[in-house]
Amino acid sequence: MCGIVGYIGKKEAFPIIIKGLQRLEYRGYDSAGVALLNGELQIHKCKGKVQDLLNYTKDKNLHGYIGIGHTRWATHGEPNDVNAHPHVSEVGNLAIIHNGIIENYATLKEELIQRGHTFESDTDTEVFVHLIGEIKEKQNVPLEEAVRMAMQHVVGAYAILVISYDHPRKMVAARKSSPLVVGIGDGEYYLASDATPIVEYTRNVVYLNDEEIACIDLENGLSIKSIENEVRTPFVEELEMNLEMLEKGGYEHFMLKEINEQARSIKDSMRGRLRLEDKEIMLGGIKDYEDKIFNADRILIVACGTSWHAGLVGEYLFEDLARIPVEVEYASEFRYRNPIINKNDVVIAISQSGETADTLAAIRLAKEKGATVLGICNVVGSSIARITDAGAYTHAGPEIGVASTKAFTAQLTILSLMALRAAKQRQTISEERYEFLLKELDRVPEAIEQVMKCEAQVKEIAAVFKDARNFLYLGRGYNFPVALEGALKLKEISYIHAEGYPAAEMKHGPIALIDEEMPIVVLATNQHAYEKIVSNIQEVKARKGKVIAVTSKQDEEISKIADYVIEIPPIADPFTPMVTTVPLQFLSYHIALMRDCNVDQPRNLAKSVTVE
Ligand code: G6P
Repeated sequence: MCGIVGYIGKKEAFPIIIKGLQRLEYRGYDSAGVALLNGELQIHKCKGKVQDLLNYTKDKNLHGYIGIGHTRWATHGEPNDVNAHPHVSEVGNLAIIHNGIIENYATLKEELIQRGHTFESDTDTEVFVHLIGEIKEKQNVPLEEAVRMAMQHVVGAYAILVISYDHPRKMVAARKSSPLVVGIGDGEYYLASDATPIVEYTRNVVYLNDEEIACIDLENGLSIKSIENEVRTPFVEELEMNLEMLEKGGYEHFMLKEINEQARSIKDSMRGRLRLEDKEIMLGGIKDYEDKIFNADRILIVACGTSWHAGLVGEYLFEDLARIPVEVEYASEFRYRNPIINKNDVVIAISQSGETADTLAAIRLAKEKGATVLGICNVVGSSIARITDAGAYTHAGPEIGVASTKAFTAQLTILSLMALRAAKQRQTISEERYEFLLKELDRVPEAIEQVMKCEAQVKEIAAVFKDARNFLYLGRGYNFPVALEGALKLKEISYIHAEGYPAAEMKHGPIALIDEEMPIVVLATNQHAYEKIVSNIQEVKARKGKVIAVTSKQDEEISKIADYVIEIPPIADPFTPMVTTVPLQFLSYHIALMRDCNVDQPRNLAKSVTVE
């Protein structure tokens, strides 16, 4: 949510900032702006995307070796030119960009107004920079100290960059609950919400921790202090990603590229972890905590959005295979309902970005109550990866499309590995079934390669239903969460109302919606509940609904009754979600495209939700 970029060094800052903002645009895209120091403090900002900012700045003075830039996802104040970042202090010498929310901004603003401040925007961010400016003026302290002192008054989540007209060789950064990375070049520094704008310049990065303030001074380099004024030694890490991962690689959209990458990304998730030769599963990151899982009274899975759907599949996996009771919770509900968490519970937090505010808060709560917390994250070095006791990275590579695709199937891969490993250890499945499932899991990337062939057929189906007003997705067992995920994908990118339902539950409500106009996607691959799902299809057809069936066998029965049949390669039930989800990803992609929707940056959404 909101992307921030900063540069300080010997190159022109503007092109670096713009490129960085374009890489971060998946985080928010309703307005954009830059501040540059070039003898003056130049601020250029406008409503719209980074491209609009580029058009707007065509004739402006864009020179400067130090600058900050922002792409916004509005929280306080509508997306317009005035509310766009950067914002400036009362005197006008400081500029700030901010990702997050200042919760006590109204009180602070009132106090500042009483002390004579005037505000231009409706944002909480402007309040923050006025406070920093006031402290700096009144107490005559260095900029970094003024930021540190201001942080003590501010409640909320933030990652900020501040520059000052009076200090043209300095930039101050600070974070609390919102991510911030400092890239270290040769006498130059790159700052950003994540490493994607940095990777083309340097691989050496420092991830700031919560409540830390970084001061970058071209004379003295990078220094870090805590909010309590303790000096911290910067811990330099090396980035694993490469530039190619951030490009579209010949595809029209990131989403299409990411759908197509899934055979590879699932393989990467399994690499070195699924060892067919010695029939073992080895998740190095959680090795020391495996006993906790094996002996857990209960597993609690916390997540949001698509990651929550992965969690639901996790529930089926852990209960079915390892016989461990599982509860799957929306992190946003979990954190506020005084949940019962015991010491013998293992909490698994799932998050692509590793930055989702509600998931982070749920983890903190679980840790306070003494539970072991494991993370399944995609973004290396992210906040969730760092505050959990241990975890497994999904290794799907950067996911740029706002609607999650390859991260979802990679999350399912990790959950499958974890559940299967626990099943073996707890002897809840026979050795024979364990070996069979291990081989089936190993076969998933090949099945994904085959299922990719359905795209042309799905595109034809998309053309038929692109103007539908509602969609229903039905699935049973392992496919129920896939139905939810299919419906979410369609909603997210095509703005068609869609609902996912357990197939049998349809009778208790959604059946009332069915008429000859209504497309119903039915996931009919389940080996054990096959007849039941066929009956559900009959019920839909009896009401003249249009059935798009996803099935895993050439099946006369379903072919006779369904309007469209998408065939997918057969795979053992526990791993079908990874395969059945692919045609649904294609369906939403092509429908969105045919409706002229922005597939990679759907309206109102953001990829990384760092506010509540
Ligand atoms: C946003 C994204 C979704 C994502 C959800 C949870 O809503 O648009 O694609 O599933 O956040 O994000 P996380 O990074 O925690 O998986």
